[in-house]
Amino acid sequence: MIVREYCPGDSDRIYGIICSSLDETYKQELLSYLYLQWPKGQLVACDFSGRPVGFLSASRIDAAHARIMLLAVDGDRRSVGIGSKLFTHFRHIALMNGMNHISLEVRPSNMRAVNFYRRHGFVATEVLRNYYNDGGDAVRLNLTLQLNI
Ligand SMILES: CC(C)(COP(=O)(O)OP(=O)(O)OC[C@H]1O[C@@H](n2cnc3c(N)ncnc32)[C@H](O)[C@@H]1OP(=O)(O)O)[C@@H](O)C(=O)NCCC(=O)NCCS
Repeated sequence: MIVREYCPGDSDRIYGIICSSLDETYKQELLSYLYLQWPKGQLVACDFSGRPVGFLSASRIDAAHARIMLLAVDGDRRSVGIGSKLFTHFRHIALMNGMNHISLEVRPSNMRAVNFYRRHGFVATEVLRNYYNDGGDAVRLNLTLQLNI
């Protein structure tokens, strides 16, 4: 499995993974928007045949702060480390770009994702009421990055 930067030709496959993985409805154009905003923050995990099986998208809030917008792994490819590999790769990119803070929002009921992020060091800082389109709450998770040299 390799992790590489997203390219526009991935759009259909990645959009399929997003639609089948996430509760919220997104337009496919969001992928181009996020890519134009920060190409380095759009990562695709591919299996050994080159087929995309996971995606992480982040945006730059400011010079020190990145926000994970989308993270999804193909349903039948979860729990074998692909999400961790995507996140670890992204963490490295954030650090190499001088960032020290990553944040994101997740549904508190999405225990699989909440546990995933906790395992990667995120801590919950606040609850955002009526955050999602269906009125559901979100919890904001934050991670402070440290360069271990
Ligand atoms: C959250 C998500 C991205 C995690 O991706 P993933 O590829 O399954 O993540 P990992 O495999 O790295 O880790 C998940 C689990 O697999 C386990 N795992 C990791 N590598 C493993 C390996 N080599 N062998 C066995 N188990 C392993 C981890 O311990 C972890 O266990 P847990 O969930 O019981 O705590 C994925 O579940 C997903 O796409 N969910 C739907 C979309 C979603 O909710 N996104 C987040 C919204 S903000």
